[in-house]
Amino acid sequence: MTDFNTIRQYNFPTTIRFGAGAIKELPDHLAANGLKRVLLVTDPVVSDLDFFKGIKSSLTNRSVSVEVFSEIHKNPVKSDVLKGSVVFKQTARDCIIGVGGGAAMDVARAIALSINHHRDLFDYDDLIGGDQYVTEAVPYFITVPTTSGTGSEVGRSAIISEDDTHRKRILFSPKLLAKIVFADPLLTMELPSFVTAATGMDALTHNMEAFIAKGFHPMADGIGLEGIRLINESIAAATNQPDLESRSKMMIASLMGAVAFQKGLGVVHSLAHPLSSLLDTHHGLANAVNLPYGMRFNTPGLEAQFTRIARAMELKEETGNAVVNHLFAINNQLGLPTTLGAIGVNAEHIETLADLAFADFCHPNNPKPVTREDFKKLYTEAL
Ligand SMILES: NC(=O)c1ccc[n+]([C@@H]2O[C@H](COP(=O)([O-])OP(=O)(O)OC[C@H]3O[C@@H](n4cnc5c(N)ncnc54)[C@H](O)[C@@H]3O)[C@@H](O)[C@H]2O)c1
Ligand SMILES: [Fe+2]
Repeated sequence: MTDFNTIRQYNFPTTIRFGAGAIKELPDHLAANGLKRVLLVTDPVVSDLDFFKGIKSSLTNRSVSVEVFSEIHKNPVKSDVLKGSVVFKQTARDCIIGVGGGAAMDVARAIALSINHHRDLFDYDDLIGGDQYVTEAVPYFITVPTTSGTGSEVGRSAIISEDDTHRKRILFSPKLLAKIVFADPLLTMELPSFVTAATGMDALTHNMEAFIAKGFHPMADGIGLEGIRLINESIAAATNQPDLESRSKMMIASLMGAVAFQKGLGVVHSLAHPLSSLLDTHHGLANAVNLPYGMRFNTPGLEAQFTRIARAMELKEETGNAVVNHLFAINNQLGLPTTLGAIGVNAEHIETLADLAFADFCHPNNPKPVTREDFKKLYTEAL
């Protein structure tokens, strides 16, 4: 029963310029806001791509001073952020633009946080109430997604790992929301098929986990359900025969996933995070493999929600079982693995993985409680 006497807070995000060619508006936007000294934060792969060089020259052609910081890990760590922060200060920048996938945008956001906040970076960890220390101004911050997955472009958090343990920490504050997002699907046209599939499955996981997460948040539910529909109809095309329509749908649906998961995530993300910490598995791939198993765990008792998901996916049979089978089929169709064994997990990893998953910050929002024993069972099933 929903308690209608409880006051809830719903936050929805920021200005989004969405569509083919949106990135061309960036120089005018900077000029209109008096910004002249940009720190472009990206990763080492994107920094070499033609579209990135194009963004850079579109700025230098307008007399904007550009500094690029791209020394970041696949699963970014605190020292990446600290290095970027030094570059920002030493080269006297006036704004930060995160260009790339979730990794680059998260590092950019964490650099933005670090400029006027001088405690240890992990003092700002949301799980220990760190957002209370986010009291100072944050430099002007812009995001430019180049994958369609995390939706970090509209996020207010940065996921950064500890250098030594690789445990993922979550830095959060409403102040970390980008002032504006330039979401241009053309930037994703050359995204390799594996990355398209893996990041797309991350986005699907966000929409699905948010839709069934605990709590009363019909705005997030509506967005999540439409995100599921869009991804279901476009992920195969975006992966196997990309065109502007499939790329556009994936980009908006991944952004919708991140809006929806303000409601919360669940068991699948808690299963996925330890794989990145322990084995450096890509975040989207880790979610893709675990998604059918995690959803199968959630099915009993959530028949009504799974019927709605099955409808959004236009499945003949409107049941949780049909949804789970469909998720396995999507992974197969995308050429993604469907077992943990196929991504290097073995039986000896399971105890440690279960400890890490149980300690993870996502599953408390799962619609049903998840015990350490459940995590062990789920990993074993997926092996
Ligand atoms: N902040 C959040 O809310 C949030 C949510 C989920 C995940 N995350 C974090 O995001 C990270 C994962 O992000 P991701 O899935 O976008 O992966 P990613 O940023 O690691 O990018 C995947 C790969 O694609 C390459 N790439 C990016 N854009 C490209 C393009 N247009 N063309 C060709 N190659 C391109 C990158 O160089 C990289 O090798 C993880 O660190 C995860 O923890 C953050
Ligand atoms: Fe995710």
